[in-house]
Amino acid sequence: MENPRDTNPLFGPNRFKLGIFSANCDGGLTMSLAPERWQANWDDIVAMTQIADRAGLEFILPVAKWRGFQGKSNIYGKSFETLTHGAALGALTSRIAIFCTVHVPLVTPAFAAKAMATIDHISHGRAGLNIVCGWNQAEFDLHGVTIEADTRYDHGLEWFQVWSKLLQGGPEFDWDGQFFQLKRLQTDPLSLQRPWPPVMSAGFSPRGRDFAARAADVLFLNVTELDQVPAMLDDVNRHMRRHDRAISVFTMGHVVCRPTRREAEDYFHYFAEEMADTEGHNYYWRNRGATVQAGNQQIVRPSETRFTRSGRGAYTGAYPGSYPFVGSPDDVAEEMARMSATGLAGCTVAFLDYLKEIPYFVQEVLPRLERLGIRQPVEAA
Ligand SMILES: Cc1cc2nc3c(=O)[nH]c(=O)nc-3n(C[C@H](O)[C@H](O)[C@H](O)COP(=O)(O)O)c2cc1C
Repeated sequence: MENPRDTNPLFGPNRFKLGIFSANCDGGLTMSLAPERWQANWDDIVAMTQIADRAGLEFILPVAKWRGFQGKSNIYGKSFETLTHGAALGALTSRIAIFCTVHVPLVTPAFAAKAMATIDHISHGRAGLNIVCGWNQAEFDLHGVTIEADTRYDHGLEWFQVWSKLLQGGPEFDWDGQFFQLKRLQTDPLSLQRPWPPVMSAGFSPRGRDFAARAADVLFLNVTELDQVPAMLDDVNRHMRRHDRAISVFTMGHVVCRPTRREAEDYFHYFAEEMADTEGHNYYWRNRGATVQAGNQQIVRPSETRFTRSGRGAYTGAYPGSYPFVGSPDDVAEEMARMSATGLAGCTVAFLDYLKEIPYFVQEVLPRLERLGIRQPVEAA
C-alpha cells in the first residue's frame, strides 16, 4: 500500500525547501511597532496559506506560544493554538505539509499521537510535528509547569519514544520510564503516514542537536551569517554519526523583497530599526538567558548580520537569529542559492505582512530559484 509519507513535500525533490513560519501569531516574526505588521487574522492566515499551497511551498510551521513578549507590540500576545490551526488548514489546502508545534511538558504523548493522527487523516497524509521542549519559563507559569533546564531534552526524547511507538501500532503496551509511567497504551486511528508523520525540532544547544539527531527528520538551526554554517553542519554530522541517522538541517529567515534593493533595504530599516520594539527584544533575551544554560553561550551568540554591521542601527525589530533576505528578487534568490550551496536543505520565510507580500515572492523569487536550479516548477515537484 502507498505510504503518503513518501510523497510528503518535506521529502520532495526540491533541493532547497521553503516553509512559512510563525504566521499563526500577531507580529509574525518581527518585533516591530510598524502599524501594518501582521495581525494574524484567521481569514488572512487561510488566504496566505492557500497561496503558499498552490505555489508549491513545502510546509507551514506555526509557533506554540502562551504569552506575548510584552513590550509595546507584545509580539506573540495573540497566537492560534497549533494543533487546531493544523486541523483546519489541513482541510483547506491540498498539497502543503501542515506542521503543528507541541511543547513536550504540556501535552501527553498519547494526546499528541491522537491529535496528529486526526490531522493526518484530515489532510490525507500531510501532517508533521515540531517538537519543542520549551525555553521561556514565563509562558510555562501559565500552565503551572516548570522547565527543567538540565533534563528537558531527555524528557523530550522519552516523550518522542512513547509518541512514535503509539503511532507504529501493535499490541497495547505499558511504559515505565524516567519521566512517564503509563498503562495500556494504544491509539486508533494510526497516522496515514507510516511509521509516523515527519518530525522537526529546533534545539540549538548541544543537547537539542543530539535530540534532533535521534528523533527528528529536520533540525532548525539559527544562522545569521553563512560562514557559520560549515561548523554547524560538522557538529550536526557528528551527532548523526553517533546515532547512525541522517537528518536535514534548515534555518529560518525573514524576506523583504521589493523591485529594487534600495526599496527593500529602506523598508527593512523602517520596520526593524526605526519602528523596532526594543522592549520586546530585551524581554526575549532576558527570558531566553534563564533556560538556555551558560554552557551554550558559544553557540547562542547575539545575532549579527550585514545590517547590524552597517552602522545604520541595531535592527532590534528583526527577530533574533532570523536570516534577513532583503533586496530585489535577484538579491533574494541569489542569497537563497548561496545558502543552499552551504549545505542547508531549506529555510522558513516570514514577511511583515504575509498576505500582502507572498504574491510578489511567489511571482518573482520562485521562478528565479528554479532558474538557479535549487527548486522545480510546482507541477514537476
Ligand atoms: C524554526 C523554529 C521554530 C521554533 N518554534 C518554537 C515554538 O513554537 N515554541 C517554542 O517555545 N520554541 C520554539 N523554538 C525555539 C526552540 O525550540 C529552541 O528552544 C531554540 O531554538 C533554542 O534551542 P535550545 O532550547 O536547544 O537552546 C523554535 C525555534 C526555531 C528555530
